[in-house]
Amino acid sequence: MSPSSMTKAQARERLAALRREIEFHEKKYYVDNDPRITDRDFDRLMEELKALEARFPDLVTPESPTQRVGEKPGEGFATVPHSRPMLSLDNCYSVEELREFEERLRRLLPGEEVRYTAELKIDGLGIAVLYEGGKFRRAVTRGDGRQGDDVTANVRTIKSLPLAVEEKERLEVRGEIFLPFSSFRNINREREEAGEPLFANPRNAAAGSIRQLNPAVVAGRGLDIFLYTLFLRDEEPPTQGETLRELKRLGFKVNPHWRACRNLNEVVAYWEEWKDKRDSLEYDCDGVVVKVDSLAQRRALGLTAKSPRWAMSFKFPARQATTRVEKIEVQVGRTGALTPVAVLEPVGIGGTTVSRSTLHNEEELKRKDVRVGDTVLVERSGDVIPRVVEVIKDRRPRGAKPFVFPSKCPICRSEVFKPEGEVISRCLNASCPARLRESILHFASRRAMDIEGLGEALVDQLLERGLIGKIPDLYRLKLEDLSGLERMGAKSSQNLLDRLAQSKSRDLSALIFALGIRHVGERTARDLAEHFAGLEDLGRASAEELTAIPDIGPRVAESIAFFFKQPENRALLEDLRKAGLNLVSRERPAKGGPLAGRVFVFTGGLDSFSRDEAGRMVESLGGRVASDVTRKATHVVVGDSPGSKLAKARNLGLAVLSEEDFLKLVGKSSA
Ligand code: IVH
Repeated sequence: MSPSSMTKAQARERLAALRREIEFHEKKYYVDNDPRITDRDFDRLMEELKALEARFPDLVTPESPTQRVGEKPGEGFATVPHSRPMLSLDNCYSVEELREFEERLRRLLPGEEVRYTAELKIDGLGIAVLYEGGKFRRAVTRGDGRQGDDVTANVRTIKSLPLAVEEKERLEVRGEIFLPFSSFRNINREREEAGEPLFANPRNAAAGSIRQLNPAVVAGRGLDIFLYTLFLRDEEPPTQGETLRELKRLGFKVNPHWRACRNLNEVVAYWEEWKDKRDSLEYDCDGVVVKVDSLAQRRALGLTAKSPRWAMSFKFPARQATTRVEKIEVQVGRTGALTPVAVLEPVGIGGTTVSRSTLHNEEELKRKDVRVGDTVLVERSGDVIPRVVEVIKDRRPRGAKPFVFPSKCPICRSEVFKPEGEVISRCLNASCPARLRESILHFASRRAMDIEGLGEALVDQLLERGLIGKIPDLYRLKLEDLSGLERMGAKSSQNLLDRLAQSKSRDLSALIFALGIRHVGERTARDLAEHFAGLEDLGRASAEELTAIPDIGPRVAESIAFFFKQPENRALLEDLRKAGLNLVSRERPAKGGPLAGRVFVFTGGLDSFSRDEAGRMVESLGGRVASDVTRKATHVVVGDSPGSKLAKARNLGLAVLSEEDFLKLVGKSSA
């Protein structure tokens, strides 16, 4: 039944069923790591729920799965007292210190047997979460231990945290919010693209995220949570093991690697085991938390002002160390990105020797002001590459000079491209040896020159044997070059040569795409091929001329113009021409058709033809189609529910046509 035909009572019933089903699948996916339906089917359930809630807004509840990003950006965080203090833990760094901890316990619990639970110490942020009447109510950061910040709206976005639990009694859970490495890398990649300072480690990124004022931003960060403390009716279960089992039963995410230990030796064995295994985890963990298992014993042991006497954090060896920067090198990646790297005096960090550390990009390097000779703090965490956290400034040798970032590619010496406002410098020479392997694979790919059979294994062999040193060399390959290679018989060699020959007559758009110009995808390549008579014309176009083409913005235009200005790339084009490749556009619409010079944008649903059909009609009459309403458009054709494009078109004073007007214009009208 569609939402529009439902009565309110029916909607209420369907909403409850949908929410139950979605909650079940969210738990399977985010908590148990055991998805039961495809993402697509899940999205369908969510869409149905959203549609139904949109139709019956008064039936929306704060616990609905659609309400994770419910609130508008806030102004700041209110300070809230904790129900009971959130203490910290005493740290120890050796088995001897751990034995002293046990000695203390024995003195305080004479003659008693003590059992422990050992848990991983997750390197994140402590959080207290309150549920009332089975509903998620509030989340508060540790703060100073007595009071913290109310970050409810942000914590609500963490998908592994249930918004509703079966237990209707008041309950408080505590645990650790953390950022998995994969999310950490994504965030830093995005920040790098946006020219923002990078987070030094996942913990800082998690802290920065939870302090975000806009919950919608938090939702996109990929935070996660493990719980380890439970107060139910203000009571704790009788043992830590029970606590963890009960948390799990209630639907909370509990770190699965905890272990019940009958004595301290088993704790030490657990620590030894995870000291080596921690690198296999998807998140940072910096030690083991040893907890006396029995709650009765815990009560007897009590607390100090700062920490409980019944727990100890047994830290893993630090993954930070200080060392000296011997040199700063600039590497060129497969995409042409220039990355500064600090060459370090080798230093052992958590079991591996580190002798290089990324400095990410020019901006980060400037921000941290790393200089040759500096002593730096280096950190390595999990599978994340070692990074320089900071320079120890008071140990800087006299006369150390700021690093000057190269303006030429250190590999091929061509000029480096760094657009306004971006932080990554790139080598755009398609034949740069650092980029060549990727350039060739892209050139040969199906949607580019479609040279079937020219895959990674073959390209690697061709490069290793020096059979190719730049892209045009592909077209000089001979049968005898190929048939000597691994897994290349006479037949497959001939096939490849045939494919290469065929590729010479591919459309200009395919060739433009194949060149791997930054920001030029298939679509832009087609726009260019439709606009210019051939590659030579395109190569001569200035950024201004390019910007005048519909759908090509200044960033793309700048990248194209820069590409064709490089002597290396001009030489590449000349070589491709000599090799006999087609450089002429056959994709240009007939010049001077009745719609020449007009640029159409379609918006909203169309009844009598598809967007593609409409596009072909326009182009066959010499007009052009653009996807966005900009000043370059001349006509906007509006169908059903046209959305914001219509308003924009009116603002720009463009001609606005109905579907019927359009049909009349192209001479297809039945009227
Ligand atoms: S129990 C009384 N268990 O480490 C303290 N804490 O350095 C109860 N942490 O504030 C904490 N993993 O934020 C406990 N498995 C774990 C933990 C853990 C990480 C954090 C927690 C605590 C900090 C103390």
